[in-house]
Amino acid sequence: MTNRILLPESDLPTHWYNAIADLPSPPPPPMGPDGKPVSLDALSAIFPPGLIEQEVSGERWIEIPEDVREVLRMWRPTPLVRARRLEQALDTPAKIFFKNESVSPAGSHKPNTSIPQAYYNKIAGINRLATETGAGQWGCSLALAGQFLDMEVRVYMVKVSYGQKPYRRSLMQTWGAEVYASPTDMTESGRKVLAQDPDSPGSLGIAISEAVEEAIHRQDTNYALGSVLNHVCLHQTVIGEEAKKQMAIAGAYPDVVIGCCGGGSNFAGIAFPYYADKAAGKEVRLIGAEPSSCPSLTQGVYTYDYGDATGLTPMMKMYTLGHDFVPPGIHAGGLRYHGQSPLISQLVHEGMIEAVAIPQLETFEAGLLFARTEAIVPAPESTHAIAATIREARRCKETGEPKTLLFCLSGHGHFDMAAYERYLAGDLEDFEYPKEAIAQSLQSLPKIA
Ligand SMILES: Cc1ncc(COP(=O)(O)O)c(C=O)c1O
Repeated sequence: MTNRILLPESDLPTHWYNAIADLPSPPPPPMGPDGKPVSLDALSAIFPPGLIEQEVSGERWIEIPEDVREVLRMWRPTPLVRARRLEQALDTPAKIFFKNESVSPAGSHKPNTSIPQAYYNKIAGINRLATETGAGQWGCSLALAGQFLDMEVRVYMVKVSYGQKPYRRSLMQTWGAEVYASPTDMTESGRKVLAQDPDSPGSLGIAISEAVEEAIHRQDTNYALGSVLNHVCLHQTVIGEEAKKQMAIAGAYPDVVIGCCGGGSNFAGIAFPYYADKAAGKEVRLIGAEPSSCPSLTQGVYTYDYGDATGLTPMMKMYTLGHDFVPPGIHAGGLRYHGQSPLISQLVHEGMIEAVAIPQLETFEAGLLFARTEAIVPAPESTHAIAATIREARRCKETGEPKTLLFCLSGHGHFDMAAYERYLAGDLEDFEYPKEAIAQSLQSLPKIA
């Protein structure tokens, strides 16, 4: 009985899959402040040409440079695992598989894109990158990429996570990055937020503003984003491509593919290669799981909004809670983003992708059951995917259907033990769906759509 399906290094994908090629309609373009589509030139202030090309490419397959593959091979292909002990604990007829992205050096899927992003900047002659991080996973991944590609990295880390996860900060510093708690008084955007609320816990939107502002003002510096954008989702498709091969070896095809959704990149990574099948007529459900305290897909509006808090980025058509929405300080720091990947948003809007919102306590309950059955302590973000999978598995128990479920374990929770400690002590709480805060921040949506 094989539970872990491993691929040799030689099976690392050679190309990324670009879902844009199979969308039902062309993706709405990013818009500038004048309400017109932004020119590619405008993007070149903060991104290198290679990534801008990928952002707008309609090619179905894009080759992964060998220099990138060489670094990815340090931990890829990642294992696909049949979660038999979890199945038994749930007493479900469902078959549960997970793709284990926690085995990367940073502990999550994020290096799948930090390495190529650093690479395309490097070959464009850029030697310094600025970025934001929520949970710290993305900051660590970019710090790691900075080490491998010999680049300087500065990270604006959301203040609430900076306090919750001191060892994430140390890991970034170990890999040579500078880290600051955002909002800082080093940028105009940070000072503006601090003037209104000196105790601001920060948000991904605010930290993005700080990093983008720095990249705009410094010639030697570009900006790198850990999620949301098309090229980030593209880089993550190695997850689903490998999973498809491994599922075939297991003699299985998923009825349901599940991932947690912050900005959408790990879910895109596992789901888009299956979306290619769905677009060709195959039946497969794709479900994104988000926190009920930051429910962009299930409670947001599908419209144009800024990607950051202060309006420095172009506007993207996406599900959004409003760019100045500051979510409650839940422990899944990587899921505290006001918006969502435009590609995922479009597919949700077109009815090709489903979304569920899950309260914090249910996610930790799922995380604990997973740790006690499958041994890996999942990241608080990943517990959303586990909780959504458990809901599906319980439904299978009720109906008796032996469905095949596949989810992405986007990361481990070794740096999140303070959150588990609080959960075990009974100190964690569910946050009410912040209806009024969302209604208020939706009022500041740009008037364009
Ligand atoms: C472990 C983990 N999973 C998921 C996410 C959410 O990001 P995305 O939706 O882009 O995968 C993060 C973000 O920091 C993360 O650290």
